[in-house]
Amino acid sequence: MEDMSYWKEVWERKGRSNTKCLEELDGYEDTTANVKEIARQITIELDIKETDKILEVACGAGGLAQYIKCGEYVGVDYSSTLVKKHIKLLNNSVLHGEANDLIFKDKSFDKVFCFGAFHYFPNQEYAKQAIAELKRIAKDAIFIGDLPVTSHREEHLLYDKKDFQDWNITDGYYNPCRFNVSLKLR
Ligand SMILES: C[S@@+](CC[C@H](N)C(=O)[O-])C[C@H]1O[C@@H](n2cnc3c(N)ncnc32)[C@H](O)[C@@H]1O
Repeated sequence: MEDMSYWKEVWERKGRSNTKCLEELDGYEDTTANVKEIARQITIELDIKETDKILEVACGAGGLAQYIKCGEYVGVDYSSTLVKKHIKLLNNSVLHGEANDLIFKDKSFDKVFCFGAFHYFPNQEYAKQAIAELKRIAKDAIFIGDLPVTSHREEHLLYDKKDFQDWNITDGYYNPCRFNVSLKLR
């Protein structure tokens, strides 16, 4: 799936729907995901403290962000409609941008995470660039969640645990065909 515009258009359309339900805006409505529980697990995995400066890449309308308690939260997403919804509904600091080319300075956040987005990336090269960006921007740790090994959608980009040998790997939070990875940087 090399065409970037397919999923981008899906997420632009999602942000135009009238609902105020953040889980629905972020595409969880037809899944068994408990978004509050996922946020709790990420908080534990990254040891997010109330003083931490956190960046969420591909933050959507704020489905997870609404439950992340930290000192300062910043989100970034490539869907301009979801960015607008996120700002309107949660009043967070959210920027429009691509996961593989982020405007933030090196080590400008304590912890950086990205959940539920890597399967929408166009190819593995893009995913590598995005991982390099997460590593560049985070001081302490990074977390990438919901990476599919297999999928019912052929448009999803798939991942292999073997490519994450230096990472801590955990089982998917709601889908057994997915896994999560985290990395401590110091
Ligand atoms: C399933 S939603 C997850 C949103 C949020 N992380 C959550 O869990 O509530 C996927 C999000 O990834 C965003 N996304 C997908 N590909 C992206 C990319 N290449 N750069 C930035 N955002 C992207 C979509 O716009 C959408 O908001």
